[in-house]
Formats: sequence, structure tokens, C-alpha cells
Amino acid sequence: MGHWTLDDIPWDRFEPDKVDPAILSIVKAASLVEQNGADYANYLCSVFADDAGFQAAARGWGTEEAQHGRALGRWATLADPIFDHAAACARFTAGFRVSPSAQHSVRGSRAGELVARCIVETGTSSYYTALAEATREPVLRAICRRIAADELRHYKLFYDHLSRYLAAERMGAWGRVRVALGRIVESEDDELAYAYHAANQPALPYDRRSAARAYARRAYAVYRPHHVERGMAMIFKAVGLKPHGRLNLLATRLAWWGMQKRVLRLERLAA
Ligand SMILES: [Fe+2]
Ligand SMILES: [Fe+2]
Repeated sequence: MGHWTLDDIPWDRFEPDKVDPAILSIVKAASLVEQNGADYANYLCSVFADDAGFQAAARGWGTEEAQHGRALGRWATLADPIFDHAAACARFTAGFRVSPSAQHSVRGSRAGELVARCIVETGTSSYYTALAEATREPVLRAICRRIAADELRHYKLFYDHLSRYLAAERMGAWGRVRVALGRIVESEDDELAYAYHAANQPALPYDRRSAARAYARRAYAVYRPHHVERGMAMIFKAVGLKPHGRLNLLATRLAWWGMQKRVLRLERLAA
């Protein structure tokens, strides 16, 4: 049983004139990616084949992620009645599929897998917090707040299991930093770009580069410095560095500067 259901969302407070089209397009993309939760849960159960406790947690986690997809999809349909969430999900999974039966983690070890999961949950918890603050539409704000709280709990869940596996697998700070950096770079990969395409441009042929740019331009724009600072602290903690030291301050400034530069460049390209 999750912490909330779709019935807890105040759907009747929806205000169509407060929907921002740029936010709508990234919410549609997010609704597809979240829907993949069940496939990721299968993948995790396969990687952690002899860890029944973790498998149970992963199943519960996957169910919550899929609910995020349903809530966002329902909101997107309210905001754009022509949007067919089920059809968009089908298009997305037809073109992007998680391998559910991997015997080993694609991160090289179970501790590595858990570091990568912490990075993803850091990204989603910052993203939905930023979206909740960026939107003026009250129903979307209510949904994003609930999702952001879930993502933070997910981070804690994977972090707790990581602590257990770190002792067994003796993965050092450098190994964790490597996995974390790899996973951060991957957020530029096909999954989000293809979700953006499948949700927003189904009639056009898929052009990975332009879809990735279209997505990033809108998604990066919702962040503010405090989201980046908090996200950086979570990443530092996951890789075993002091979450609130000078290094974090420096990394936050660098990341914020890089994100701003990127948004400006993408806006110039789109103009
Ligand atoms: Fe989620
Ligand atoms: Fe999550």
C-alpha cells in the first residue's frame, strides 16, 4: 500500500488557464518514464535475486513509480484532452525497454546499482520539487509535492540498502563517484529524449538530438539554485563525501553555472 492514491489528488481544483505549455510537455514525458517503474522493479529483482527483503522493497518502489506515471498522465489529459496517455505509453515502451532479466547490474556491482538508484532518486526528488514550485496550476503542484516526497523516501530506501552492500562489496569512494558521474551523464541518454518525443511529437520521425534538446531546454528551466544545492548534497552523501562542505558549494556553483549556460544556449538554438 503506497502513501497516497489518485483519490487523494484534488482534481476538482484544476485551473486550465494556469497550465504552462512548456511544463505540460515535460510532464507528459515524465508520465511515460515513471510508468516504466514495473520494468525497473523486475530488473532490480533479477539483479538482487537472493535478497528477498530488497526484492519486496523494490516491488513496492516500482508500484509507487508507476502511480507517479498515472497521476501525471491523468493531469496531462485534463490539461490537454487530446493527449492519449495509454497510447503514448505504448509508443514509449515499444521504442524504449528496460532489460528485465539482467543477471548482473549494468553498474558492475550491487553497491554500484544502489549508488545509481540514489542518483536517479536525487534527480527526481529535485525535479518534482522544482516543478511544484514552478507551476501555478494547483493540481499539478499537489501531485508534484506528493511525488517529490516519495522520491526522497526512495532515495533513503536505496541509501539504506547501499550502506549494507558497501560493507559486503567494499566499494570505495572513487568507485562510487565513477558510477554517480556515469549515471548523471546518462540522464542525457535516450530515455528522456524518447519519452519527450513519444509524448509530444508522435507524428514526426524520432530525432534523438532535437528531442533531447527540446526536453532539456524546458526541464532545466524549472530549477532554481536551492534545488541544485540540495541535490548536490544528496549526491555527495551517496558517494561518501561530506554533504555540506566547501566542495559541495563549489560543485553546486559549477553545476548551476553549467545549467544556466545550457538553457541559454538551447534557447538561442530554438529561437
Ligand atoms: Fe517517480
Ligand atoms: Fe522514485
